Amino acid sequence: MKINIAIDGPSASGKSTIAKALAKRLNYTHIDTGSMYRACAYLALKHDLKPEAIELVDLVNRSHFGFSENGHILLNGKDIDAKIRSKHVDLLTSTIAQNQAIRSTLVSIQQQIANTKGFILDGRDIGSVVLKDAELKVFQTASIESRAKRRLTEYQIKGIDVDYQTIYDEIKLRDLQDQSREHSPLIQTEDAYVLDTSDLTIEQSVNQVYEWAKELIEERGDTND
Ligand code: CDP
Repeated sequence: MKINIAIDGPSASGKSTIAKALAKRLNYTHIDTGSMYRACAYLALKHDLKPEAIELVDLVNRSHFGFSENGHILLNGKDIDAKIRSKHVDLLTSTIAQNQAIRSTLVSIQQQIANTKGFILDGRDIGSVVLKDAELKVFQTASIESRAKRRLTEYQIKGIDVDYQTIYDEIKLRDLQDQSREHSPLIQTEDAYVLDTSDLTIEQSVNQVYEWAKELIEERGDTND
């Protein structure tokens, strides 16, 4: 029987990479909820709106959020994935994610998408809010140093010119914003398995979550539905 998997954790801990690979291996659907918050930041920038503006909430409510076959975010049917992964969008997203009206719209869309089993959602509030009843909850973390190094490599590959210290400071600030916000802060739920990826390769991390998932799937019966 299929299960639902919630993966939460701080920025750049590799949640989406692990979730994507795991979804492929289990033949499940991966939803990167962070890309939906990023799409809201994109809307704010495009329409020159402040993170707390009521006009932004209206715009988000009138927008359609979907995902392409390859997991890219579709905003009103348009693939905006390449536009939402900049350093500038990172910080703005974390500020917009404090807006409770926006959170509640996105959470209900996520719950509608994952209303059956066979989903892997990654984000900050999946195990605590969106999929409280997920059979497997993973809290994925890593030291700030290793997360900053990973993000630096990602930016370098994209040709973005940025130094290690700037990225380190921004990750620290984003951790603080995500963990201390009033609504749905990033927390480790009591029933979550902890995965510290600081010294693990992607393959080792995926294998570990796969083992946890396999065990739970087998406990629930070996059919493929
Ligand atoms: O890729 P990275 O881990 O850096 O970030 P992300 O998962 O794309 O999420 C970007 C921002 O969206 C986070 O810093 C959070 O502030 C927010 N977010 C959230 O509040 N709740 C979620 N379920 C997912 C993301």
